Amino acid sequence: MKLQYQLTIAFTTLLVVIMTVAGITIYSQMLQMLIKDEQRQLEDKGQLIVNFILYQDLNNTSNVQRLLDMLEQYNLQVFAYDDRSNQIIFSSIPELEVVNDWVDRYDMEETEQPLWQADNEKYVVSILPFYSIVSTQHLVLLTPLDDLQEVQKSLLWRLSLIFLIGIAVAVLLSHYLTSKLVTPLTQLKHQLKKIEKRKFDDMQEIKATGEIKEVEQSVSDMANELHSFIQSQRHFFQNASHELKTPLMTIQGYAEGIRDGVFENEEAERGLNVMVAEINRLKKIINEIILLAKLDSEESIYDETEVNLQEFVEKITERALPIANEKEIKWEVKKVEPYIVSFDHDKMLQAIMNIVTNAIRHANHKVELSVYQKGKQVCMEVMDDGEGMDEELLSKLFHRFVKGESGETGLGLAIARAIVEQSDGTIKAENNRLGGAVFTVSFSHYEKKKHSVYD
Ligand SMILES: Nc1ncnc2c1ncn2[C@@H]1O[C@H](COP(=O)(O)OP(=O)(O)OP(=O)(O)O)[C@@H](O)[C@H]1O
Ligand SMILES: [Mg+2]
Repeated sequence: MKLQYQLTIAFTTLLVVIMTVAGITIYSQMLQMLIKDEQRQLEDKGQLIVNFILYQDLNNTSNVQRLLDMLEQYNLQVFAYDDRSNQIIFSSIPELEVVNDWVDRYDMEETEQPLWQADNEKYVVSILPFYSIVSTQHLVLLTPLDDLQEVQKSLLWRLSLIFLIGIAVAVLLSHYLTSKLVTPLTQLKHQLKKIEKRKFDDMQEIKATGEIKEVEQSVSDMANELHSFIQSQRHFFQNASHELKTPLMTIQGYAEGIRDGVFENEEAERGLNVMVAEINRLKKIINEIILLAKLDSEESIYDETEVNLQEFVEKITERALPIANEKEIKWEVKKVEPYIVSFDHDKMLQAIMNIVTNAIRHANHKVELSVYQKGKQVCMEVMDDGEGMDEELLSKLFHRFVKGESGETGLGLAIARAIVEQSDGTIKAENNRLGGAVFTVSFSHYEKKKHSVYD
């Protein structure tokens, strides 16, 4: 069943239950309240009549007429009764037997008598004493219970009508509110279907608020992430096949030339050398692709240990110095403090060497390596004085197979980033003030040792 109907049914059922309980409670109390109210009214009106009888001269016919008018106006069933003579003084009740029955059977001593049962009808009774010079007399006011039950019925009808209107309004309201709630969910479902079918360009924003908006935001972030992942995978395969195809075609060309006798002697020798160089290049690309795939998917290949950056920088220098010397580039290391950082020693060495070999390749005169603390982070920085990188290259420098004019495979920095990020670090590239490039690898978790390895 649709969520909207489920919610509407749930709301309506809840409302009907609440209203029914309220209705039953009110109905059961209603008669009691009407009886009490009637008694109070009878008392008030009776008091007026008693005052009239006591203080007006009833020998005067106009006063008697006023009394009768009053009784008619209040629509009262009333009679006056003399205790001593046990007689009715006057009565406005047409059924005399009811009055006589009352005189015969009513127990004046009993105070708690809200209803009096006559032959076939019950009455609400109110008795007010008044005293004449000779005896005690009582004014007795009666209201048939039937009258009150009529009032009760009519009230019940009105109450039921209000309940019905209330339920109808509530059902409409809950339908409207649930549809407001459910519509964004339905739209979200359609958006998810689009993701399933990889129609990322058809994705639309949903009008929603609160938690649904947050879910929508997460779905949209997920879709963007998935889209860029799929695109990067696609580019990766395109680039990889292109990178593999070029050396293979060169090798094929020379191999066929030598086989068919097109290249002979020196040319054949040169062809073989090119073939060996291209095969080495192919080997390097394939190894780097395999390494990248492993870095992405196998967390177990990381062997984290605590590394002292002073010793680590020495290892980099051991490897970088021969390459720098060969290119006549000056290799400079600033004084390093004994910071301890956790990472896979060999893989991080490879990551930093990828950055360092790039720097040596692009530098004009020198490459500088420094380790320093900045805020809550410790940073390793490789700076060169080469030509630097243009903005377009900078924005996608760490992507796979992205390379500049004098680049090689374009995988070195992608590998470096994968290793650094796996070690909870960050990597960034900028141009420095000398125009060359500066690469910074930062770690948030580190310790500083008291004793340097140089002490
Ligand atoms: N220090 C630098 N100065 C200027 N450009 C640089 C520097 N380091 C990297 N680059 C540019 O970034 C590109 C990508 O570098 P990356 O190391 O990923 O690939 P590569 O060096 O071309 O190939 P390899 O996979 O062999 O490392 C390079 O081709 C180069 O154009
Ligand atoms: Mg490189």
